[in-house]
Amino acid sequence: MLSPKLYKNGHAYDLFMRVFGFEASVERFLSRLPITVPEGGKILDTGCGSGTLGIHFLQSGNRTSLLSTDLEPNFIDAAKKKASRRGIRADRMNVGIADISRPDLITTIDQQAITLEKESFSLICIGAVLGYAKSPESSLQCLVELLQPGGYLLNLEMCETALGKYVCGRYHYHNISLERMSQILREDCEVTSHSMNWQHFPACMTRTAVIAKKNAPSR
Ligand SMILES: C[S@@+](CC[C@H](N)C(=O)[O-])C[C@H]1O[C@@H](n2cnc3c(N)ncnc32)[C@H](O)[C@@H]1O
Repeated sequence: MLSPKLYKNGHAYDLFMRVFGFEASVERFLSRLPITVPEGGKILDTGCGSGTLGIHFLQSGNRTSLLSTDLEPNFIDAAKKKASRRGIRADRMNVGIADISRPDLITTIDQQAITLEKESFSLICIGAVLGYAKSPESSLQCLVELLQPGGYLLNLEMCETALGKYVCGRYHYHNISLERMSQILREDCEVTSHSMNWQHFPACMTRTAVIAKKNAPSR
């Protein structure tokens, strides 16, 4: 059930997440988080997997747009299919390839290289991907630079329970501690932690959330 091969096939991953109720429990949790995306705001979901996080917030407004990126094209394909199943207009969602080590460098589907503009996103979502970065610290700093002042970074991270650590080991996921993550984010953001409870089963077994709201520049 926890074969590392699951992370190689976006469609199998998506099916697994849906059939075992993981996706629904994540979305129940996301709905109660104190995150608002202004109309017209841009969302980035990097290491998007089958797209759940970014698509959830995209659906909370009509004029928001989403850029979903992943290292694996087949995950991007699975994310696009999810958006289409949910009736989201194709022009509201862009996709691209990006390594979490440099989340600002995107290769589009038609092979164009793009550098994302600093302070251009209202919301950045990451989930269980930072531990694949060469330096999670620099990736976090890069993501914060991409956030507009007042914007949110949501990290739906692996939790530090025994099961969370077991799953990380199984998937060769080497993250920094949640404490270190918060310490880095606090340099430019107000940081809060949000634990899941049993209403968010089964996601509560392996995930927890850190939200960072970027401070306005000091005068
Ligand atoms: C556990 S899944 C998480 C998916 C989604 N963010 C979520 O919260 O459900 C990890 C994702 O990270 C992607 N990934 C692995 N290494 C990566 C890297 N170096 N850069 C970007 N994405 C990567 C995988 O392809 C996979 O889609």
